[in-house]
Amino acid sequence: MKRMLSRRDALKLGLLVGGAILLPVGLQRRGSAQFNPWTSQFQLPLRIPPVLNPVSSDATTDYYEITMKQAQVEILPGLMTTIWGYNGQFPGPTLKARVGRQTIVRQTNNLPEPVVVHNHGMGSLPQYDGHPDDIIPPGTYKDYIYPNDRAATLWYHDHTMHTTGPYFYKGLSAFYLVGDDFEDSLPLPKGEYDIPLMIQDRLFSSRGEFIYNSRGNNGVFGITVLVNGVPSPRFQVANRKYRFRILNASNARSYQLALSSGQPLIVIGTDNGGLTPAPVKTSQMRLGAAERYDVIVDFSVYPIGTQVVLQNLVGETPSLQQLMRFDVVRQETDDSIIPATLRSFEPIPESRAVRTRDWSFSRGQYGEWVINGLPWDSNRVDATPRLGDVEIWRLANNDKDMEHYIHLHLVKFQLLDRNGKPPFPYEVGWKDTVYLGKNEVVRIIVKFEPNVGRYPMHCHNLEHEDDMQMTQFQVL
Ligand code: C2O
Ligand code: CU
Repeated sequence: MKRMLSRRDALKLGLLVGGAILLPVGLQRRGSAQFNPWTSQFQLPLRIPPVLNPVSSDATTDYYEITMKQAQVEILPGLMTTIWGYNGQFPGPTLKARVGRQTIVRQTNNLPEPVVVHNHGMGSLPQYDGHPDDIIPPGTYKDYIYPNDRAATLWYHDHTMHTTGPYFYKGLSAFYLVGDDFEDSLPLPKGEYDIPLMIQDRLFSSRGEFIYNSRGNNGVFGITVLVNGVPSPRFQVANRKYRFRILNASNARSYQLALSSGQPLIVIGTDNGGLTPAPVKTSQMRLGAAERYDVIVDFSVYPIGTQVVLQNLVGETPSLQQLMRFDVVRQETDDSIIPATLRSFEPIPESRAVRTRDWSFSRGQYGEWVINGLPWDSNRVDATPRLGDVEIWRLANNDKDMEHYIHLHLVKFQLLDRNGKPPFPYEVGWKDTVYLGKNEVVRIIVKFEPNVGRYPMHCHNLEHEDDMQMTQFQVL
């Protein structure tokens, strides 16, 4: 599919250089400074990020050690990319944890700059949450204590004040998967059939380096899609059910996911509850930055030899429309079952809310991004719920051009409605990040637990976050 790029598209894609619109990559003349994502589509096999082993364990706790460092890795065939990675890896190593056991991660900073590590979705105490001011200076370490209070597909990433966007883009992101006995008791696909997929977009130079094009503050976008750090990979599957834990770890981009075969995705998990109350079939799914969904794809309906593409229905270029390909290559028996009910779930009645707070997400007077008209201020707290309070938060986006992805640290919440209508069926479950589309008002209901203290709420478009679209609440 070829179409003319508008100036806005070109800006979004980072193709506008020195006032001139660079042609879409397929149409570029030789000598252009960008890597052509078409050449690598479906060429490379999917990689699964390695699972890190604890350095030690005792009756209550598993201890891990990670060093953040710069490294050269091969992402594009034959080219080396400079990254910042957990243990020098991109994506970083997956940590696996269990409800009922605590995890302590020693993060050593061997990078040239101070950084912060946030475990996204964890109910950490404030001093271990990765508050953007709580830096680890170069050459030092910090021990983060994680209570593992909920079974879910979580992830850890950089959260440094005003520089999260560029640091994260260099590679500081990884999965943190929390399991529990209940989930294990269900006959869902497990082990090698339970696959995390981290989706990210990048712009590469022709020499293979990341280009972080931060012109303006709308967000940094790329035209090469990486899944687990591999450009639009292919993944050989058996003709059976798989569970995919899909994370949008892009700086700013959202996706509309669908299978090229038209087969529905079966959603079994949301951001922060681990599992939905019941499986939900959907032909397509909106995925904002930092959102996670666990989906089942049943490849048993396809003959061996079938290729199924995971598509993005809102990509501006072919490389952004085809994220990865599943090749059904072998016969296997499948003893997994998708139960009709998953984790029990009680909607919080609106009547339990002790108050409603209004939050608007917009541009400030200097073009920065603000919340309720105010930019980030470390010394200001904009809400003080008491521990255990249930509140309704009304999140409003009046912008007709720009979406936001609203994330609250510490808590999990439920969606009440979007523009007065029920949320999408696949959003029913516990969430920690919500897609706030153009001209949308979303109401969420939140119980403030399990800790007291100060925690951020911010937009997970990281360039919005860095340019001030962050506030904090203090649980009293
Ligand atoms: Cu995923 Cu405040 O972060
Ligand atoms: Cu935003």
